[in-house]
This record gives sequence, C-alpha cells and structure tokens, in this order.
Amino acid sequence: MDSSNRRRFVKNVGGIAIGAVAGSGVTRLLSSDEAPLAIPALPWPYVDLDPIAVAERAYLGYSNGGCMYGAFEGIIGELRTKLGAPFDTFPTTMMKYGGGGVAGWGSLCGALNGVAAAIYLLKDSKTGNDLISEIFNWYGVEKLPNYRPKTPKFEIATTISESQLCHVSVTKWANHTGFKTGSPERAERCAWLTASVAKYTTELLNKQLAGTYQRAHQTPAKVTLCLQCHGPSGTVANVHITGGQSNCTSCHHRHWAGGVEF
Ligand code: HEC
Ligand code: HEC
Repeated sequence: MDSSNRRRFVKNVGGIAIGAVAGSGVTRLLSSDEAPLAIPALPWPYVDLDPIAVAERAYLGYSNGGCMYGAFEGIIGELRTKLGAPFDTFPTTMMKYGGGGVAGWGSLCGALNGVAAAIYLLKDSKTGNDLISEIFNWYGVEKLPNYRPKTPKFEIATTISESQLCHVSVTKWANHTGFKTGSPERAERCAWLTASVAKYTTELLNKQLAGTYQRAHQTPAKVTLCLQCHGPSGTVANVHITGGQSNCTSCHHRHWAGGVEF
C-alpha cells in the first residue's frame, strides 16, 4: 500500500459514514469527504517482467515468509514496483499461510500455491487453469530446483519429484541428498525451488503477453490412462481429478482390470 492509500484508510477510520450508494443497492463504508477505496475487478494488469528479477525477489521472499509467500511476492512484488496500484493494495503477507504445504501440513507445494494465486489475480479462470496445469505438470517432471540464486548459501542438488505435494517433493530430495528435512540445506533447496517456480511462471506470463505461449507439458499418458476409467467421466468415476497428476502409482499399486494390467 502506498502512502496516499494508507492516508486514505486512516482518514476513513476518523470520518466513517455508512451510506447506500445510489443505484447500486450496495451498502458501503464511505468517508465523509471521499469516495471509497476502489479495488479494480480481476484480472489485474500484467506487464513484461524480468524472470531473473522475479526469481531473486522470490528467493529473498522465502527467507521473509516461506515458499508460498516468496513465489507470490516474487511476481506481485515486481508488478507493485513497476505499476504501483492496484498491486500496492494487496495484503501479500497473507500468503505466508501456504508455507510448508499450508501451515506446515506437507500438502500442496507452497511455491506452486503461490504462483497459482498470482495467476488468479492476473488471468481469467480458463487461462489461469491452463497455465497452472502447465506449471504443475512441468514441476512433476523437471529436475528442480533449476534456478541458482546470485548469492546462494549452499550448492543444491536437483531431483524430480513426480508429485506436487510438499511432503513428497521434500522427502525425495532429502533421501537423494542425505540431508535431513530440518536442515539449512533443505531450507535453501526450497528457497531455490521457490525462485525456480516463480521464474518459470514469469517466462510463461511473458510469452502469453507476447502472444507466443504454447502449452509445453501435458499430464503424462500413464496418468490419463488411469483417469479414463477412474476420472469423473470414466466408467468407475471414483476419482475427482480433472486437472492432472504426475504419478498415480507412487501411492497406488498396479492392478488388473478387464484382463489388462494397469
Ligand atoms: C480400464 C479401466 C481402468 C483403468 C485404465 C484403470 N483402472 Fe483402476 N480399477 C478399475 C476397475 C473396474 C476397478 C475395480 C472397481 C471396483 O471394484 O469398484 C479398479 C480399481 C482400482 C483401485 C482400487 C483397489 C484395487 O487395486 O483394486 C485403485 C486404487 C485403482 N483402480 C487405481 C488405478 C490406477 C492408479 C490406474 C492407472 C495406473 C488405474 N486404476 C487404471 C478400472 C480401471
Ligand atoms: C498422494 C497419494 C495419492 C496419489 C498421487 C493418488 N492417490 Fe488415489 N488414493 C490415495 C488414498 C490415500 C486413497 C484412499 C485410500 C484408499 O482407498 O486406498 C485413494 C483412493 C483412490 C481410489 C479408490 C480406491 C478404492 O479402494 O476404492 C482410486 C480408484 C484411486 N485413488 C485412484 C487414483 C488415481 C487414478 C490417481 C492418479 C490420477 C491417484 N489415485 C493418485 C492416494 C493417492
């Protein structure tokens, strides 16, 4: 929030009046002498960003508020610097909730959660879902982290997670490298990962802006095969996954159906 907006909020607290806005049927808080703070409808504007600047900002953001905050702030912070409003009205600090797979629950990787939230500020849901699926599919098959910050604390080895879950992604890396999940090396790995995901997302957003974006990563065939029967439009239809997944058999054993082994 820039200082003029902050002043406006402070003023509102002093001079609040509740009034019905004529014709809108909506009751809003109005200051006695000013229009209410206008938050523009989504999507908010996007301008070309430097993916390296975003990555560095995300890396730094990780130390200030964790993975989800870092990834979100990498992109939205750069837009705030370039454009000011409306990005200066967004309470970015709330994104700290996604740290460690949501409040430490090891569910969705916070870097993915952070860029997905940023995408939903910048794109309609159809374009947004396609971008999110591209990024999630990429994350499942890419050797990560693939961005090395300018002043790293350690050198970091890469792994392929085949999963978008914090727990799986972190533990695969920890098993591969021998570092404990509570180690400073693991934290550094997640900081690099936050930067890597924010950077890739920015590259895609830039391509979309330039009109050169093409989907590069699809859900693997071994997963769409399972979803043909188990997904919402399949014959068994007992799995509610429409977006994708990187690997069903990391959790499930193979099985036989109709004489074929899956
Ligand atoms: C040709 C359709 C088909 C495909 C493809 C398929 N399944 Fe199934 N699957 C079934 C049927 C039918 C059952 C039995 C359902 C029941 O008994 O209600 C089943 C059962 C299961 C079960 C329940 C436990 C078990 O092992 O029997 C799991 C888990 C499962 N499938 C996972 C998968 C995964 C993972 C894949 C992809 C690797 C897959 N399925 C591919 C049809 C399919
Ligand atoms: C992160 C682990 C994980 C992944 C990845 C995963 N599942 Fe599951 N799945 C589970 C758990 C846990 C259950 C509930 C326990 C159970 O019934 O086995 C479940 C339940 C199921 C069932 C019902 C089994 C039954 O006995 O009725 C099917 C079918 C299934 N999953 C298919 C899939 C398919 C297809 C994919 C990939 C698109 C997938 N799962 C990915 C963990 C996972």
